[in-house]
This record gives sequence, structure tokens and C-alpha cells, in this order.
Amino acid sequence: MGDVYTLITGGSMGIGKALARECARRGMNLLLVALPTPELEQTASEIRDEFAVRVDTLGINLTEPPSPGSVHQWCEKNNYTVDILMNNAGIAGSAIFEESSIEYSDERILLNIRALVILSRLFIPMLKQQKRAYILNTGSFSAYQPLAYKSVYAASKSFVHLFSLALNEELRDTSISVTVVNPNGVKTNATAHDRINTHGKLVQKTLVLDADKIAQIAVDGMLKGKKIIIPGFWNRFVLQISRLLPASYKIKKTAKIFRKELLKLD
Ligand SMILES: NC(=O)c1ccc[n+]([C@@H]2O[C@H](COP(=O)([O-])OP(=O)(O)OC[C@H]3O[C@@H](n4cnc5c(N)ncnc54)[C@H](OP(=O)(O)O)[C@@H]3O)[C@@H](O)[C@H]2O)c1
Repeated sequence: MGDVYTLITGGSMGIGKALARECARRGMNLLLVALPTPELEQTASEIRDEFAVRVDTLGINLTEPPSPGSVHQWCEKNNYTVDILMNNAGIAGSAIFEESSIEYSDERILLNIRALVILSRLFIPMLKQQKRAYILNTGSFSAYQPLAYKSVYAASKSFVHLFSLALNEELRDTSISVTVVNPNGVKTNATAHDRINTHGKLVQKTLVLDADKIAQIAVDGMLKGKKIIIPGFWNRFVLQISRLLPASYKIKKTAKIFRKELLKLD
């Protein structure tokens, strides 16, 4: 059997890169999977220089239907044993649905949902053979209610949330524990920066965390076998309060907020 690795999709940038650095800090070898861009190799080489861990990369577009299978084959071919699978790659997005392209929805469904499901399915047999194994899925705070103007993205993250909980239950008597981490805004890529900057200072100060903090909380929680992780006290507080409010009020209120966000981004 070869070395044991943590496989991170979307490991080249943003939260995925922060997860990669957090894992490397803890001595885990890494397999970073992301689009074939220079950032992927750059992140891998940065981590190799800083930490005494093995890092290998696979540049691949996970929205292409054969890609999850190719990732699995790549691991088998190279004798990589995966004991942690982090399904993190995902694309956010705001749009007026009736004006959005078919490709807009397809990309989110294929990456946020399909790739995550198929990778989980393909890696379970290998994960099951490990004494202790983990699946960490990156969901979102958007998972908790329908969000107009983020309809596809929010629903894709509700899927990730519910799928993770159901899978964890199915795997209860195995060595695998499944965790979903649901962060609120994180200033990662340029769009996330612009989107978060449309909100007030108070929101940014209380609800927005940096990617390194999210990663630290997520890896800690995953290793403890937590089912759901919501990083940040104020995010957990807001969620509890919002549970007291009627759904019809919340959908209207958030629609206003995200319509404003969309108009400001235009
Ligand atoms: N940022 C936020 O506010 C926020 C909040 C809650 C949840 N999340 C979730 O956190 C996760 C990471 O988001 P992020 O903000 O860190 O995003 P990001 O900075 O844009 O990074 C996304 C990562 O996914 C990879 N990726 C994108 N499309 C891909 C594709 N088709 N095939 C393979 N890899 C692909 C990117 O690779 P490249 O190197 O090629 O770009 C990059 O490594 C997502 O699931 C997102 O929904 C983000």
C-alpha cells in the first residue's frame, strides 16, 4: 500500500487552498484537484516548500461527466490511498433565473452536486478500508433556506447539506464519518470580494470570516466527527434567530437583500 493522502477538490485557491495548508500543517500528504491553471502547481509548490508533506496535483475540469471517474483512476494508477476526501470545489453565483443561461445552471449542478456525489461514491470503498476515514463537504450558509436570485446555488448547497447528513447516517457503522461545513461569506475570489463588499460594515465584521479560520475550524470539527460545522459564533446566532421567523418573511427579506446585491454587482 502506498502513502496515505487527503484529496481536496478546488485545492488551488480560496477555501480549498486554506484547507490544504491546514492539512499540511498537520502533516497530511495532499492530492490537490482543480482546473488546470498555473495556481494549482503554484499552491502545490508553496506547500511543498513550507511543509514536510507530499503534494501531487491533477488539473481537471470536474464539470465534465467523466472527470470524477478520472480522478479515482488517477489515484488507483498512482497507488494513492485516500483516507480523507474533501469535496470543496464549487461555484457560487447570483442571477435572475429566467435571464440566466443553461450553462450557468449546468455548471453549478455538475460541479456543486454531481462531482461531489460521484466522487463520494467512487472513494467510499477505499475510505472504508482505512481504520479511520473522513469525507468533508463544503456546503454554505446558503443551504438553510430558499434564496431568490441565488436559487440554483442555494439549492445546490441545500443538496450538499442534506446529502452529507444522509450519507453520514448510512455510513454510521463504518470507519467513515461525513461532515458538512457551511461557511457564510469568505473573501476568496474577486466575485466573492465584490459580493461581500456590497454589504454593510457590520455584516462584514460579524459574519465574514477568513478562509484560514474556516479551514482550521473545518478540519478540527471533521477530525472530531462533527456532522455539521457552521464557522463563527455570529453565524450560528443568526441561524438560530432566523429559525424563529416565518419562512414567508425570510424568503421576501433575503430576496430584497440579494436583489440589491445583484444590482450593485452589475
Ligand atoms: N467564498 C465564499 O463566500 C463561500 C461561502 C460559502 C461556501 N463557499 C464554498 O466554498 C467552496 C470554495 O469556494 P471559494 O470561495 O474558495 O472558491 P474559489 O476561490 O473560486 O476556489 C474554487 C476552487 O474550485 C476550483 N474549481 C472551480 N471550478 C472547477 C471545475 N470546473 N473543476 C475543477 N475545479 C474547479 C478552482 O480551481 P481553479 O484554480 O481553476 O480556479 C478553485 O480551486 C465552494 O464550494 C463554495 O461554494 C464559499
